[in-house]
Amino acid sequence: MLPAIKDYRALARRRLPRFAFDYLDGGAEDGRGLARNLAAYEQLLFNPRILRDVSTVDATVSLFGQVQSMPAVVGPTGLNGLYWPQAEETLARAAHAAGLPFAMSTASTSLLEDVRAATAGDLWLQLYVQQDRRIAEDMMRRAQALGFSTLMLTVDTMVHGKRDHDVRNRFKMPLRITPRLVMDVATHPRWCVRMLRQGGSPQLVNLAHSADVPVSMQAQAALMSRQMDMSLDWNAIAWMRSHWRGPVLIKGVLSVADSQLALRYGADGVVLSNHGGRQLESAPSPLEVLPAVVDAVGDKLDILVDGGIRRGDDIAKARALGAKAVLLGRAPLFGLAATGPQGVADVLQILREEFETALRLLGVPAARQLGESALSEDYRQRL
Ligand code: FNR
Repeated sequence: MLPAIKDYRALARRRLPRFAFDYLDGGAEDGRGLARNLAAYEQLLFNPRILRDVSTVDATVSLFGQVQSMPAVVGPTGLNGLYWPQAEETLARAAHAAGLPFAMSTASTSLLEDVRAATAGDLWLQLYVQQDRRIAEDMMRRAQALGFSTLMLTVDTMVHGKRDHDVRNRFKMPLRITPRLVMDVATHPRWCVRMLRQGGSPQLVNLAHSADVPVSMQAQAALMSRQMDMSLDWNAIAWMRSHWRGPVLIKGVLSVADSQLALRYGADGVVLSNHGGRQLESAPSPLEVLPAVVDAVGDKLDILVDGGIRRGDDIAKARALGAKAVLLGRAPLFGLAATGPQGVADVLQILREEFETALRLLGVPAARQLGESALSEDYRQRL
């Protein structure tokens, strides 16, 4: 096992073709949003307490009635098949083995049915809504029938943020064979062999399946070019409720006003997120808005947060500020791209061990007891 998440990132960078690593790692435009997400955690300091009995620590928390090993969820990311064959199954199995839920993206590259068959773990569905609402309705129906527990509507991606690296690399799905791509791939032969073994470029199989579109490159290109439903508004929550029995979350909230609307329109929770700094570059870091959102609606909604979790300490900071849990975006993917199933397991174990170490060094024996007293007194000024 490597020492830290950043070591898996470094290995992923070496092992992936440039276009795939940049897609995984990069942020929108000049990358300042991504940097701000990371900096927010760096700036926040703890208030460690001493001479408290920490001979045992309990990292578990309960989320939507399910007990999990620590306050984290393996978050939804699209196109995971770019990094390793059977990527979704691999992430789902590793999450289950680590005692965490796994959220599958609408843009996932394995069928919901295949992931369900691969694990008995807690699965969530992340929804993007296309103009033809029947696609999302079909996906909800399929996930519900497969026993997925939680639905998460992502609302910050009406259009894709401008990602300069993808433009530079001419990266688009389906992959187009350009001389640059051929060079990039040829210099990563092991990646290339793995991709060929899985049958070539990954496919957006769930979207294609629910849209009843044949899984061909051309059909997917047509599907991708169909825009998101940009007319989506708060009535989406009632619409989702009519198709979904479990908890409904809104992912991509960044203000008190919107978290209050989420409450008013009947969501069970919100994920404060700027999509890992991949959408609107100058959006605030979700951690910065967390205290105000918790003050406003924290007793009525479950507040989750994501963006920039690279250490177990970061999970402790988010929890101390009132988040019920964090979503992990890039961190498990660095492990996946570096060494496949073992890499994902390593990353989740590292985060868990770092989180438990932080609890002990803070003098807080249980994750449930983490609160603002675990943070330095000036924490609001530091955000
Ligand atoms: C994402 N994210 C994302 N979110 C979502 O709701 N649906 C999706 O399909 C994707 N796809 C996706 C791909 C990749 C490569 C990344 C890195 C991210 C956003 C993701 O769920 C999460 O909000 C951020 O990744 C959190 O930030 P960190 O942990 O990556 O810093």
